[in-house]
Amino acid sequence: MKKRVAIIGATGSVGQEFIQSLEGHPWFEVTQIAASARTAGKKYVEAIRDPNTGIVAWDVGGDIPEYVREMTVRGVDEVDTANLDLIFSAVESGPARDIETRFAKELPVISTSSAYRYEEDVPILIPGINDDHAELLEEQKRRRSWKGWVAPLPNCTTTGLVITLKPLLDKYGAKKVMMTSMQAISGGGKTGVTAMGITDNILPYIPKEEGKVRIETRKILGNLDNGRIHDADIRVSCTCTRVPVIDGHTESVFVETTEDVDPSKAKDTYDSYNEHISTAGLPSAPEKYYAFHEDPTRPQPRLERTVGDGMTTTIGRVEKEELFEHGLKYMLFSHNKKMGSAKGAVLLAEMLLEKGKI
Ligand SMILES: NC(=O)c1ccc[n+]([C@@H]2O[C@H](COP(=O)([O-])OP(=O)(O)OC[C@H]3O[C@@H](n4cnc5c(N)ncnc54)[C@H](OP(=O)(O)O)[C@@H]3O)[C@@H](O)[C@H]2O)c1
Repeated sequence: MKKRVAIIGATGSVGQEFIQSLEGHPWFEVTQIAASARTAGKKYVEAIRDPNTGIVAWDVGGDIPEYVREMTVRGVDEVDTANLDLIFSAVESGPARDIETRFAKELPVISTSSAYRYEEDVPILIPGINDDHAELLEEQKRRRSWKGWVAPLPNCTTTGLVITLKPLLDKYGAKKVMMTSMQAISGGGKTGVTAMGITDNILPYIPKEEGKVRIETRKILGNLDNGRIHDADIRVSCTCTRVPVIDGHTESVFVETTEDVDPSKAKDTYDSYNEHISTAGLPSAPEKYYAFHEDPTRPQPRLERTVGDGMTTTIGRVEKEELFEHGLKYMLFSHNKKMGSAKGAVLLAEMLLEKGKI
């Protein structure tokens, strides 16, 4: 018996990616979809039609999966929780707070929004990186007297940074991190940036993004002890920019390590982490969690975004950083809508189902 799931925010940028990631999924079946009052009551294919151009705005490539084309989009109040096992939430953080609270009283909620990320009893989970933090979900349920819980993913810019830092931190320690992101247009959602704003341009500021990356990185890399996450003792500084790339975030990272790190051994560090990754064998897990390039012209968004169906994080340009006593600099590529949100959320659901949390 497959678990019955609903996607809230199914018409948005991440929602569409959820629809594609869950097509034919062996463990989960989408039985309900919901969005705002603007689209509630419409068939899915009509709900995503752009009212200005008349174009069906299906943005994830290929055709709209058959299973959802004629499904009616519900209002949030019309979602039938009695016939569901799990909610995927892909709504902006403002409305997400009330929506996720309401559903978590009844059901597990996996969220791509920031609404709950910074609460003390809420872990920010990246499958394969901090699976042990999932135990905090039990504490959350108990403290709030909910039947379910909210399990958020990080911001999509934090995801690639943390995934690449974790093997370095485990082996060499990490004291300071500086990062500059070059983030894709799709990261801003369907109304995030205008064509006039981003074409032939770079936007040097993304509201609230840098604070999210700083807080989330320390929390995810921290330790869960006695029902509490103790943040990792790493200082994080970042500059987040938006660039004219459709999908996938590129980040330039400088990290000061505690121990000396030989850049020529970095590949081994990622390879050995890859070998023991906890997500191996899960339906949405990539064959390789990390791709490592010695070719200095990689990573490039156009070349990396399809690797591992967007679930592989690519690392390149690894060099010694002379500014620090011990340290490295490198560049990474991470797909914001795949590993960084919808498909990463599906992988998280698979991990939590295996752990008996769903
Ligand atoms: N885009 C990314 O790469 C990315 C990555 C990681 C995390 N996130 C996070 O994921 C969430 C969704 O992002 P997105 O980029 O998909 O945004 P989006 O394209 O703007 O889509 C937002 C979705 O939320 C729905 N919605 C808005 N207000 C609602 C309400 N009051 N009740 C129910 N549904 C409502 C919209 O429905 P209508 O169509 O009816 O308006 C739409 O389906 C955000 O919290 C974002 O920060 C996004």
